[in-house]
Amino acid sequence: MTDSFAFPHDFLWGVATAAHQVEGNNVNSDCWFLERLPGTIFAEPSGDAVDHYHRYREDIALIAGLGFTSYRFSLEWARIEPEEGHFSEAELNHYRRVLETCHEHGLTPVVTFHHFTSPLWLLAAGGWEGPRTAGLFARYCDRAMAHLGDLIGIACTLNEPNLPWLLKSIGLFSEAPEDRGSVPVWATAAERLGVAASTVAPFQFTATEAAFDVKLAAHRAATAAIKARRPELQVGWTLANSDIQSIDGGQDFADSARRDVNERFLEASRSDDFVGIQTYGRTVFGPDGLAPAAEGVPTNQMGEEIYPQGLEATIREAHRVAGIPVIVTENGLATEDDTQRLAYLRTAVDGVASCLADGIDVRGYIAWTAFDNYEWIFGYRPKFGLIAVDRTTQERTPKESARFLGSLARAKVVESV
Ligand code: BGC
Repeated sequence: MTDSFAFPHDFLWGVATAAHQVEGNNVNSDCWFLERLPGTIFAEPSGDAVDHYHRYREDIALIAGLGFTSYRFSLEWARIEPEEGHFSEAELNHYRRVLETCHEHGLTPVVTFHHFTSPLWLLAAGGWEGPRTAGLFARYCDRAMAHLGDLIGIACTLNEPNLPWLLKSIGLFSEAPEDRGSVPVWATAAERLGVAASTVAPFQFTATEAAFDVKLAAHRAATAAIKARRPELQVGWTLANSDIQSIDGGQDFADSARRDVNERFLEASRSDDFVGIQTYGRTVFGPDGLAPAAEGVPTNQMGEEIYPQGLEATIREAHRVAGIPVIVTENGLATEDDTQRLAYLRTAVDGVASCLADGIDVRGYIAWTAFDNYEWIFGYRPKFGLIAVDRTTQERTPKESARFLGSLARAKVVESV
């Protein structure tokens, strides 16, 4: 990198959230149900989250005030279609107000139509292996577009459809359908829903070929539904792409993970307008599979090595394999130490600048995440937020890292690190 780099004027500088992680009381969703089951894999229930559902006006004003130019958030399918075929006008109006608030503050809304959570009724109907799921998802996207489409800045269909394969590559959540009955949480879920355990297929935890086909079909059908309402709207999906590496003896594991997790999803993106890249670090394979982080390296709150350089590698990979514009739709660090986060963000942004300097079409950098929030199975312990939240008072306090990124958004110039 040269000493300083000027970002394109229309480059998006943003922060991201996902409905279930911030809104609170997402009671008709599959996650709400799974969080509360006996033997749940979730550390704690999401509850009120950070009450963004009611506080979105102040939250969006705060984000804009820090200097950001974009806000990525998700629509909650379980709110919009709480029962199959029943669409809530009131909830659609809620999201219309959220979008209007973004525009009032000059933020480009990057809207995700599905961020991990689905309506509970979908889980009972076969979830992300269900034969009707792609069509049902496209119908919901069409309804949402009819109501909200004119205000959407950029559309993301599915968030991290490939996450289950990343988890599988490191030995997590990869039961075959016929074995689900022996996993207590899936067995209990099946019993409560009155379905066979083999059909319990939530979005984040299902890494079968049937799920791959359903997700790809859902993405394609949703893209067509969105484009039918607004042909010029930029549409893509957002991928969990780790920088997959190997040490001696780990080449085969790495090649197969890279293929399964990154490349086949990037290849499937070639006909899209952009691909969202969401990278948090690297995944290194050795002769026995996943290689543990080297002794003494700094780790995040999940115990993984802190490796901000991974982002540059996955942007380059996306450019090479998909050959379409890239938007960094998530990138961030779980730490209590904001100085560590600041250093992480600097290196990551420097990597983006070096991709741009090489002529790669990167359209934005959207950090994960606006607020300390509900980190899925880990509960509220990991702190990814640029803005701290006191969950007893719901008071928001921007961290230094938020000011740093916000000021970059204003200056549009980064000094090399
Ligand atoms: C997801 C977010 C999540 C973040 C940090 C991504 O997998 O899209 O919802 O909170 O990573 O783990």
